[in-house]
Amino acid sequence: MCGIVAYLGHQQADSILIEGLKRLEYRGYDSAGIATIEESGLVVYRSVGRISGLEEILTDKQLNGTLGIAHTRWATHGKPSNENAHPHVDYTGKIAIVHNGIIENYLTLKKWLISKGCTFSSETDSEIIANLISVFYHDENHLKESGTDMSPAGKLETATRLALRELVGTYGITVICRDVPDTLITARRGSPIILGVGDEEFIVASDAAAIVKHTTQAIYLGDNEMAVITRDGYHTSTIENVPVAARIEQIEYSLDEIELAGFEHYMAKEIFEQPQTLEACISGRLDLTEGRIQLGGIADMSRQLVRARRILITACGTAWHAGLVGEYIFEELAGIPTEVDYASEFRYRNPIIEDGTIHIVISQSGETIDTLAALREAKHRGAMCLGIVNSVGSTIARETDCGIYLHVGPEIGVASTKAFTGQLAVLTMMALYVARRRHMSQHRLNDYIKAMVEIPGKIKTILKQSDTIREAAHQYSNRENWLFLGRGYQFPVALEGALKLKEISYIHAEGLPAAEMKHGPIALITPEMPVVFVAPRCAQYEKVVGNMEEVKARGGIIIAVATEGDDGIKKYADHVFYVPHTLDELQPMLTVIPLQLLAYHAAVIRGHDVDKPRNLAKSVTVE
Ligand code: G6P
Repeated sequence: MCGIVAYLGHQQADSILIEGLKRLEYRGYDSAGIATIEESGLVVYRSVGRISGLEEILTDKQLNGTLGIAHTRWATHGKPSNENAHPHVDYTGKIAIVHNGIIENYLTLKKWLISKGCTFSSETDSEIIANLISVFYHDENHLKESGTDMSPAGKLETATRLALRELVGTYGITVICRDVPDTLITARRGSPIILGVGDEEFIVASDAAAIVKHTTQAIYLGDNEMAVITRDGYHTSTIENVPVAARIEQIEYSLDEIELAGFEHYMAKEIFEQPQTLEACISGRLDLTEGRIQLGGIADMSRQLVRARRILITACGTAWHAGLVGEYIFEELAGIPTEVDYASEFRYRNPIIEDGTIHIVISQSGETIDTLAALREAKHRGAMCLGIVNSVGSTIARETDCGIYLHVGPEIGVASTKAFTGQLAVLTMMALYVARRRHMSQHRLNDYIKAMVEIPGKIKTILKQSDTIREAAHQYSNRENWLFLGRGYQFPVALEGALKLKEISYIHAEGLPAAEMKHGPIALITPEMPVVFVAPRCAQYEKVVGNMEEVKARGGIIIAVATEGDDGIKKYADHVFYVPHTLDELQPMLTVIPLQLLAYHAAVIRGHDVDKPRNLAKSVTVE
């Protein structure tokens, strides 16, 4: 949700910033802007729409500055417009900032700033940050009293600290000032900031994707921390100016992993690379020869996990659907009572965390604010917290007591695909790990390990049906209402199938437990309505077929995801997408693949920008 890039070094900043913004465009894409410090002073360009629009504006501009900040926006306060786009400049025209996050007390601060003579040109909460820094920057008496080094750089640093102390809410910011052409300031609370440390150059971004082309050495700023970067180096401290020893870490992925690699969309690339990403996710963790599961990331907590009396899973969106599968798996395999909560709702109850409760948070990005808030709430209430996260070094990964990375590589497509199958694999491995230590026989575990190891190859065979799935999508892509139904492990898959279709095709779709159809939704069924049944051969198969008959009797169109060899299902279904047989608990990793492809093809056929769907953002860092 919104992307930040900033540069200070020996190269011209504008092209590096634009290139960085393009890498972050999946984070927000309603407007964009750039500010650089030129010999002539502070120069700012902003435009509504995609980065390409901003790039066009810059084509005939002669920018030479080597210090600059840039932003791609997903609107929260104020509609997408030039005025509301970042960077925001203070009322004196000297200081520019870009901001991710939400300032909750901005109206109070705005009133105060207006009383001090500041003027505003946007409706955003972010603009107050530029003016707040400016008011402190120009208040020499106040600065002297607080013992500030009164050079412009010293004043800017103190003014930024003073301003940040006044903010209630979340921020990742970068700040530049016309008077200080050699200093870039960045700080964070609740919104990620990464400082890439290159060869005599620094690139700051809200996401490693904008940094990795320049350097893989990075510092992940902690909450309430700030970095002051100059041409000679940087120092990190808390907002309160207590020095913090910065730890340089290696960004784990390469530029190749964030390229399209010949695909038209990232979503397609990510769907098609699932055989490899799942392989990477399970490799080194499942040992077929020894019949063992090794999960290094949770080794420290394995005793508590094995003895857990209750598991509580919180997540949002696709990750929440993975959590639902996790609930079934943990109860079935490990015998631990498990509940799944929307992270956004968790705090609005009075969640009971008893002794022996393990809280699992699932998040691809590791930055979703609702999931992070649920994690903090659970920690505050004394739960042991375990993360299932894809993004290495992300806030959730850092704040959980321990965790397991997905290792599926960066996910750029806004609609989550490979992260989902990775999340399912990790949840299954965890449940098996616990089950073996509780009661599962070695023989049974071996069967699961063998079946898990075969999953990537089985996904490959499903992907071969892409053209058949495209044809079905073509036939029904003009239908505005769809139902997705499944029972047991397939119910969360039905939810995920419906979500995919909504997200990128803008088709109204509902996912339901198949049996619930009779309690209302059946009234919707007409010969116009596609109903997708996720119906592999499993314990509930016969019952699902019964539901198909009910739909058929009412003239609905049936699309089924079924197990290879199930010819009988053709009696009911107008279209069948086949998946290879596997154990019931592992089926979601297969049955979801045709649904991902269905949504993808439907969206392409309807002419949508699959990787940047309307109104959505990859990582939702506002509540
Ligand atoms: C957004 C994305 C979804 C994603 C959800 C949770 O809504 O559009 O695709 O599932 O956030 O994201 P997370 O990064 O926490 O898994």
